[in-house]
Amino acid sequence: MKIAVVGASGNTGRIVAELALEKGNDLRAVARNPDVLENLASRGAEIVAADLDDREAVFSALSGVEAIYYCSPLAVGHDEPFAAERARGRNVIDAAQAVGAKHLVLLSAMGPEAAPGIPLIETKRAVEGELAATDLGYTILRPSMFMDNVAMAGPEVLLGMGLSWPFSEGALIQPIAASDIAQVAFRAMTSGPRNRSFKLVGPEALTFPQMASELGRALGSDVKFAEISDETFVEHVGAAIGSTEVAAAIAGAYRLWERDGGGTGDASVIEREFDLSLTRFRDYAAQLADTWKRAGLI
Ligand SMILES: NC(=O)c1ccc[n+]([C@@H]2O[C@H](COP(=O)([O-])OP(=O)(O)OC[C@H]3O[C@@H](n4cnc5c(N)ncnc54)[C@H](OP(=O)(O)O)[C@@H]3O)[C@@H](O)[C@H]2O)c1
Repeated sequence: MKIAVVGASGNTGRIVAELALEKGNDLRAVARNPDVLENLASRGAEIVAADLDDREAVFSALSGVEAIYYCSPLAVGHDEPFAAERARGRNVIDAAQAVGAKHLVLLSAMGPEAAPGIPLIETKRAVEGELAATDLGYTILRPSMFMDNVAMAGPEVLLGMGLSWPFSEGALIQPIAASDIAQVAFRAMTSGPRNRSFKLVGPEALTFPQMASELGRALGSDVKFAEISDETFVEHVGAAIGSTEVAAAIAGAYRLWERDGGGTGDASVIEREFDLSLTRFRDYAAQLADTWKRAGLI
């Protein structure tokens, strides 16, 4: 099958692209920067540099493909990031229709079904709606927080300051590994159910102190958890990603997921529908420790 992965250097797209190659598909890997896709090129992928804001470039990047994975990246460099993410979604959906693709897998986020009034989630809701209104085959994936987020600050911060999140100590969430999202996305494109939306939660409901404790066990050192205010989160994450507006919307999504069990769900649906055994947080933490050890970071 000819598959396009849009965002092929990202957390999930990188793994979807690897799976597509491993299973013998023709892969077109799309991102802005072709250099970071070099490893996929050396394994036979066709590399296309295209900016999602450039409608014509998107149409040309998707020509001739049968299935598309679209991670809908946050439009952090824009003055109006949510309008920009919507416009990008429209470019990809229109292009998918124009090129005669059979199936589009959209990475969304948990929450659109509730219409919560948070810009990040309302944007996902709008893009989902535009996709579902087409005659394209589609799968909408609404992930919980990625397990991989806990590694973003790196070992120095995790082992020094600990795990700091705008989440209260007793609140439960079911984080999911990016590798599992990628497995679901790949299976959805090649053999999964059509025209459905899935809440992608991990296999265990955990508190942040429990995640910190599992990280500490894997890393061989104490990792503490501290709840931080939305303001602190927005200040730090806003500076890191270059958009306080997007950081504030991410904090809003966390608070939404924290309320009323919104961050939890039935993981057995995904395991059954996609024939997958989901990664437990303890195993994710062990893999992370192994990766950091091999890279000489700890
Ligand atoms: N992390 C979480 O906990 C979480 C939870 C729920 C939902 N999500 C959703 O997950 C999505 C992000 O997925 P991800 O983490 O797999 O992606 P990611 O790691 O953020 O990577 C984004 C990918 O898109 C490409 N990209 C970015 N801007 C582009 C542009 N203008 N034109 C073309 N390509 C562009 C990037 O490559 P280049 O920079 O080289 O172009 C990269 O390959 C977001 O929509 C987020 O809302 C995340």
